Amino acid sequence: MKHLTVIAAIIAYSGTTLAQVPGGVIPPTAAGGFGVATDHELATKAAEAMLQRGGNAVDAAVAASFTLSVVRPFACGIGGGGFMVIYLPGTAGVVQTAVNYRETCPAAIKPDTFSEPGLPARASEFGGLAVATPGTVKGLLYVLEKYGTLPRDVVFAPAIAAAEDGFVADAAYIRSKTELLEQFSPASGGREKFGFVWTTLLGKGELASGDRIRNLGHGKALRLIASEGADVFYGGEIAAAIVSSVQRTGGRLSREDLALYKVSETPPLLGSAFGRTVLTMPPPSSGGVALLQILGMMERSSIKPQELKSSDPAYLFSLVEAMKFAFADRAFYMADPAFVPVPTERLLSAAYIDSRMKIMPKGRTEGIGYYTINENGEQLVPDGGTSHISVVDSRGGAVACTETINLAFGSLVEAEGFGFILNNQMDDFTTSAAPNAFGLTQSKRNAPEGGKRPLSSMTPTVVLKSGSVEMVSGGAGGPRIISGTVQTVLNRLIFDMRAGECVASPRVHHQWKPSELQVEDRLMKRYNGLPVSQWLEKFGHRVKRTSAVAGVNVVVVSQDTVEAAADDRRGGVATPHLRRNQEAQPPKELK
Ligand code: GLY
Repeated sequence: MKHLTVIAAIIAYSGTTLAQVPGGVIPPTAAGGFGVATDHELATKAAEAMLQRGGNAVDAAVAASFTLSVVRPFACGIGGGGFMVIYLPGTAGVVQTAVNYRETCPAAIKPDTFSEPGLPARASEFGGLAVATPGTVKGLLYVLEKYGTLPRDVVFAPAIAAAEDGFVADAAYIRSKTELLEQFSPASGGREKFGFVWTTLLGKGELASGDRIRNLGHGKALRLIASEGADVFYGGEIAAAIVSSVQRTGGRLSREDLALYKVSETPPLLGSAFGRTVLTMPPPSSGGVALLQILGMMERSSIKPQELKSSDPAYLFSLVEAMKFAFADRAFYMADPAFVPVPTERLLSAAYIDSRMKIMPKGRTEGIGYYTINENGEQLVPDGGTSHISVVDSRGGAVACTETINLAFGSLVEAEGFGFILNNQMDDFTTSAAPNAFGLTQSKRNAPEGGKRPLSSMTPTVVLKSGSVEMVSGGAGGPRIISGTVQTVLNRLIFDMRAGECVASPRVHHQWKPSELQVEDRLMKRYNGLPVSQWLEKFGHRVKRTSAVAGVNVVVVSQDTVEAAADDRRGGVATPHLRRNQEAQPPKELK
């Protein structure tokens, strides 16, 4: 299938849909337009269909998420988990909330489990032991019931149709297939061990762009969940299949782990920067804290280059220094606050951000140890999948939702007979002294422990201006999510870019360790005759070129328009236009 890049400018309208909505407090800037950006055309269409029926941003995000479970089986889905930041204005006040349906560690997995002798290589990445208790189904049904407006059968319909009628493998799908197969040579005989992933989702390695994939097992799972609710997944037929598939492949997830799984809901992390209010995800995501720290440092550095905008070398130098401080804190302090203390308030305090600015390097980057000097001048001692949905509805509501099964095709373990892939989120825990699959070094605070959630980088974010939604952002790509998301937000808040430009502009990533600066291939600009990447080397960075720093999907609301932009780096698709004064479209026929 043609690799789709759609940057949709949706002109705000004052059509009949708005008038029919009972009782919403409608912020003027958002009134009458909606926007959706996801990683796949069918998911964006699913969300759009909900909004056209009068559903809200939560209905739309849930429909998109179940559809992504089918069409992006390598990135996210009902075998995984996620986070959702919700902002919904209404008659009874504004809902601002953060819903945490991240996977949890099975009770039988202990801090030292992955050091036991005799485990297969890369046990935290492949096979049953890599699987953490999935949260997506409970999370999505929880938000649908509490904050959604549409019935389950309507919301599930597009996902069921995608599974049963099939969908077409696109370039992003084929890239993930290649990423996986490159790790297993045919000679190793390892590929057949992928089972369902190999036979069906990869067409025995022959799957090509444009091929259609039908997944009747996944359709069956979705039909069961739509009719019986979350119980069938956490205690019924699907639970039985999950547990037997995991245990057969060396894992320890039990029926009890599934039965005990709980969604957690907390206030979002609230910050302010550049005159805006930012709602983002608290720990166990590191994303929200890192994003707010970086925004705070960039606000204080008050650089606003004109010529090269976000590709200006001096701007990039400051941004990367901010990233290095934030990622060092991520490595030291972050984990699941339900299990270990995480000093979120301190790390986001003005005094702490000021202390970073006092030692902010000038003109030349520093070695790794420099970024772990705390505010008292003391040196601290150290002890790839994913998919993002951004939605703004016509009532001014917004959802930022990031979900994952972790690495490409997760643990490779199918919940047998049900066509969905179980996550390998155990690798996001600190399972050994070595860096994880993303090259991240993390502390012992993030060691596996029954019921604990692994540290995440997912950064679903909503930005408000004068009390109305200005931007929804978030992305996929492991730790690069933080860098990608913060750069799209800065592109809006500093450079006033439109949605398409926010997403398309070249990005960089530095995660403190390893000491290398990833620079996207698309950063081709020159400054004073030298390529920008050479300026970065002059500042002391080891530059590594990369094709993509995250895949970020955004919606930007301005006075007259709502613009959605999905990232071409992951084959994303945004909603098509609604024009000013255009009559609302009749609801689309759902299959
Ligand atoms: N599994 C990627 C993340 O949550 O950061």
